[in-house]
Amino acid sequence: DKGNYRHFMQKEIYEQPEVIGHTLGAFVDLTTGRTRLPVGQSLDFSKIRRIALSACGTGFYASLVGRYYFERYARIACDLDVASEFRYRESPLEDVDLALFVSQSGETADTLASLRHAKGEGLTTAAIVNVAESTIAREADAVLPTLAGPEIGVASTKAFTCQLMALAALAVHAGVEKGRISAQDELAFTRTLQEAPRLVNEAIALEGQIETLARRMATRNHALFLGRGFSYPLALEGALKLKEISYIHAEGYAAGELKHGPIALIDETMPVVVVAPHDRSFEKTASNVQEVAARGGEIILFTDAKGAASGIVDNVHTIVMPEMPEILTPIVYAVPLQLLAYHTAIQMGTDVDQPRNLAKSVTVE
Ligand code: M6R
Repeated sequence: DKGNYRHFMQKEIYEQPEVIGHTLGAFVDLTTGRTRLPVGQSLDFSKIRRIALSACGTGFYASLVGRYYFERYARIACDLDVASEFRYRESPLEDVDLALFVSQSGETADTLASLRHAKGEGLTTAAIVNVAESTIAREADAVLPTLAGPEIGVASTKAFTCQLMALAALAVHAGVEKGRISAQDELAFTRTLQEAPRLVNEAIALEGQIETLARRMATRNHALFLGRGFSYPLALEGALKLKEISYIHAEGYAAGELKHGPIALIDETMPVVVVAPHDRSFEKTASNVQEVAARGGEIILFTDAKGAASGIVDNVHTIVMPEMPEILTPIVYAVPLQLLAYHTAIQMGTDVDQPRNLAKSVTVE
């Protein structure tokens, strides 16, 4: 039931503050502020040196954020593949200690086949899944639930941000178990993660401004999405959301790759969406924004007050996001990208919840 919402996608975007809070509760004891694994699950991160992550679509982009989290907060090396490649890649897995799969449905054919491949190779497996009764949940050694509730819209929204929340909490937990994060820092991290629902609400409140930008986006045939560091996977996710539901051709790139090809596409007809909180990557991304502006590209910049005040270029459509510690930026910056795709699709008159050619659950290769 959509309730008072026009589409399931909109309802699911609005549910995010609540469901990311629930998901956090599975990984953090909210009374002590200590991280933990969900009830009944065990994984000893102190012994894990290398994780192989794989997933499809949005789950793959969540995994890419997960890789940044595990590497930065726990110093655990991560390999990452789309599941359709992992299952056939014949990668030597001797030094992998954990294979981690991310899936909303828990039924995606390639992800399931990758899980079976990893088990066949003798690896310990874990799955971040939203559907608790799914095949992937049944077959993985450890089940790490996202508590997003049923997701009906084909374009994943709340499952994605819940996956990010699970991965963030897990990476902090792994960092503690590996002796990389002190007990005091653990408390600071979990306090930060508890701010996510409020910040996501603040991001949702920007809907009106984003809708105005979506009206312009809907007149375009192409769009480029750029981000660096923690925001690189967000650029990929923003482009995927836009193409899935508005059918506008969109590509996501690591901002540093701009000069290696995509800059050739920039002219007055090419909108460039830049995800750039004022973090350690900001100055570098800002110089990419200048390169785009110098070639007449129209820039939509998602940043915070500090980023906006840096005055990188005039003539930029800036959406000012709340300020937050870097671990939260992927979760919170996902929201305006979802809203941009959603309102663009509405302008285009497409079927937002059931876009053409797509299925909610891809159970064949
Ligand atoms: O159920 P899963 O998370 O395994 O699904 C994976 C992809 O099919 C899915 O994320 C797809 O890319 C979505 N339509 C993205 O919005």
